[in-house]
Amino acid sequence: MAEASGILGVRNLQVGYADHTVIRDVSFEVRPREIFVIMGPSGCGKTTLLKAVVGLVPVRGGTVTYRGRSLASPGALHDFRKRIGMVFQQGALLNSVSLEENVALPLREHTRLPEWMIRQVVRIRLAQVGLLDAGHLKPMELSGGMRKRAGIARALALEPELLFFDEPTGGLDPVTADGIDNLILSLRESMPVTIVAVTHELASIFKVADRVMMLRDGGIAVLGTPAEVRASRDEEVLRFIERRAQRIEGAADEFLSRGEGGEA
Ligand SMILES: Nc1ncnc2c1ncn2[C@@H]1O[C@H](COP(=O)(O)OP(=O)(O)OP(=O)(O)O)[C@@H](O)[C@H]1O
Ligand SMILES: [Mg+2]
Repeated sequence: MAEASGILGVRNLQVGYADHTVIRDVSFEVRPREIFVIMGPSGCGKTTLLKAVVGLVPVRGGTVTYRGRSLASPGALHDFRKRIGMVFQQGALLNSVSLEENVALPLREHTRLPEWMIRQVVRIRLAQVGLLDAGHLKPMELSGGMRKRAGIARALALEPELLFFDEPTGGLDPVTADGIDNLILSLRESMPVTIVAVTHELASIFKVADRVMMLRDGGIAVLGTPAEVRASRDEEVLRFIERRAQRIEGAADEFLSRGEGGEA
């Protein structure tokens, strides 16, 4: 069966809100251990697609399969949720408790590990994202980059087989964003994890992606390796890529032209 090659299969998915159809017909397969990136302009439905795949937004049609089993079958979604980690666009950390407690949350909810073991796992996860010394801080006390890392530590808590990221580098400066990209790559190197990431940061896409899918009008504009996407003859795909590249170069030029004598 063709499906067997994919860890996650999405077939003819349709998703919408009230009378607004956001995803009309999307099919793709995510292969084990790959980094699969979903891109597209703001509002095209990237977050909606991600949330539908993990069952946080109801689907109107089509199927999602995990290791060949439909998530619509009894108990499947519940099992699936225990095997995945999700890093939300807005972070979704609990502001009233420390980072350590945020990371411990899924462990308390889904396991019966004794307290001392939970503490050990939390330390490992914080170490993995470079926040071992920040465990006692609350989310409000962290920088944007640290908050992203904290969200990743929490998503890693249950040692997921599949990690979903929604804009892992959104709103970060280029250097901090690059650090998150490196972290994503190092996670894939150090554990048997498959990653699905939504982003519209071009630098991230071409640095981390094994394959890229661009959404358009509720469907797929292009799906392939970064090289294949770059070689696309679809005007809109090229414009999306070029305009972003120009914006990055433009910003760099502007920065450099301010020169040493600039007011900084
Ligand atoms: N809970 C909701 N109820 C109604 N409409 C929604 C809801 N969430 C999203 N939408 C609409 O669905 C469309 C897709 O939104 P979505 O957040 O999935 O886009 P996105 O590609 O993730 O955008 P961004 O890049 O800005 O994060 C938008 O038109 C949005 O207004
Ligand atoms: Mg979004």
